[in-house]
Amino acid sequence: MFEHLSALAVRAGGGGEGSGYAVRSRKSGRMLVRFAAAPEPMTQSALQPTPPFLIEAARTRAGDDPIFALNAMAQKRARAGEHVVNATLGALMDDEGKLAVMRTVFEAFAAVDPQRAAGYAPIAGEKGFLDAVVADLFAERSLAKFAVAAATPGGTGALHHAIVNFLEPGQALLAPEFYWSPYKTLADHTRRRVETFAMFDASRRFDCAAFERALEGQVRAQGRALVLLNTPCNNPTGYSLDGREWSDVSRIVRAASRRAPVALLVDHAYAKFGGPNSERWIEHASEIAGDALLLVAWTASKSFAQYGARVGALVAVHPDEAERQRIANALSYSCRGTWSNCNHAGQLAIGRLLADSELRARADAERAVLRALLDQRVAAFNAAAGAAGIDYPRYEGGFFVSAFAPRPDAAAERMRERGVFVVPIAGALRIALCSTPARDVPKLVQALSEGLKAASS
Ligand SMILES: Cc1ncc(COP(=O)(O)O)c(C=O)c1O
Repeated sequence: MFEHLSALAVRAGGGGEGSGYAVRSRKSGRMLVRFAAAPEPMTQSALQPTPPFLIEAARTRAGDDPIFALNAMAQKRARAGEHVVNATLGALMDDEGKLAVMRTVFEAFAAVDPQRAAGYAPIAGEKGFLDAVVADLFAERSLAKFAVAAATPGGTGALHHAIVNFLEPGQALLAPEFYWSPYKTLADHTRRRVETFAMFDASRRFDCAAFERALEGQVRAQGRALVLLNTPCNNPTGYSLDGREWSDVSRIVRAASRRAPVALLVDHAYAKFGGPNSERWIEHASEIAGDALLLVAWTASKSFAQYGARVGALVAVHPDEAERQRIANALSYSCRGTWSNCNHAGQLAIGRLLADSELRARADAERAVLRALLDQRVAAFNAAAGAAGIDYPRYEGGFFVSAFAPRPDAAAERMRERGVFVVPIAGALRIALCSTPARDVPKLVQALSEGLKAASS
C-alpha cells in the first residue's frame, strides 16, 4: 500500500529504440509507470507571439550590473595567470584579495538568543537597535531626543523609504551629478526621477552655487525637495564636504525650506572611513533640522563589514513631536508595504555591538585596523596620482576615488590592456581602492595616467 509514495525514477532501456523513463517502487522494485521517452522540452509555438507578461516599464530593464561584468572579466584574466589590478568592486578586501571581516561582529551574531532571532522583528525595527543607531549618530547631543527611526535592509532600504515618503510620484530627488547609480534605480522603480547639479566648481570644490540654483528650481517647480548628499566619502568620487561647504549647504537648505518642505538626506554609508573632518555635518544638524527635515541613511554594511546582513535604518530628525509621530507612522507603513520587517538577528547583534561598551570598543579596534589598511591605500594613491598630475577631487578617505576623464570608456579600455580594471562612469573613472592593495597602487596610477593620455589624444 502507498508504495507510490516511495517511488524512484530510473532510466529504462538501453538508450536505443524503446528507451524512456520508468518509475519503480523503491520497496518492491515493481514498475509503476513507464514513459515512452524523456518529456519534451517546453517549446513555444512558432505561431504564438510572445504575450507581454511584463508591464511596459519592466520590459527593457537591464538585469546585469556592469560593475559585476567588469569584475568577472578581471577575475577570468587573473585565473589565466595574469597579474591584474581589480579596482572594480565596492567591498573592503584585505591585501590577499579576501573580504575583510570583523570577528567581534560574528561573536555578537553567535550570541544572539535563537528564540528572539527566529521570531519576527517589530515592523519598524527593534527599539534597542534603533536607539543605538540614533546614539551612534548623535551621541550625547540633544538632537537624539528629536529623532525617530525605522529599521531597513541596509542603506538601500533607507533610501527607498525616503524617496517614497518625501516625494510625490513623478517628482525628482536632487543629487550631485556624481551619485551612486542605484539612486536612479530606486527612483525609477518607485516612479520618481533623479535631477542633478554640477558637483564640483572650477577649483574642484563642492559647487554650492550650482546646488543653490538647482534646489531653488526644484522648490519652484515641485513645491518640495528631497536632497541626497552622500558624504563623507562620496561614492563614486571619494569627496567629503568640509566645514565651509557644510555651512553653505546648511544656509541654502534652510533658505529653501522657508518656501517649501525640504528634506536633506545624509547618505552615511561610508562615514566610519572618512578623514578627520569628515563628520562636519553634525555641527550643522540642529540648525538644519530646525527648518528642514534632516534624514540620515545609516547602514552596518560597511561600518561592520556586514554587506550581506542587510542591517540599516532611516533616521529622521524634527523638533515637532506630532510631525515626528506622523513620520514614524509613515515609515512603519512603508516597512509593512515592502519587506514587512527586517533581519531580526542582525538588529539584535548590531544593536548590541553599538550599545555594549566592551563589545563596541572591540569592534572599533578591529575597524581601526581595516581603516589603517584603507588609509595606507589612500595615502599611496594621493602620492602617486599627485605626482602624475591626475585630475581628481580632494580625497581624504573612503572606499572609492574618481579621476575626471572626458572619454572614460576609452581610458578604461586602455587600462584593461595593461591589466588594470576600473569602472568608467559619466565623466570619470571610478577606482575602488577598497579592493586594491597599496602595493598595486603605483601600477594602477601608471595605467591610469596612460589611459587618460591615450583617451585624450
Ligand atoms: C553611496 C551608497 N549609499 C548606500 C549604499 C547602501 O548599501 P547597503 O544597502 O548595503 O547598506 C551604498 C552601497 O554600496 C552606497 O555606495
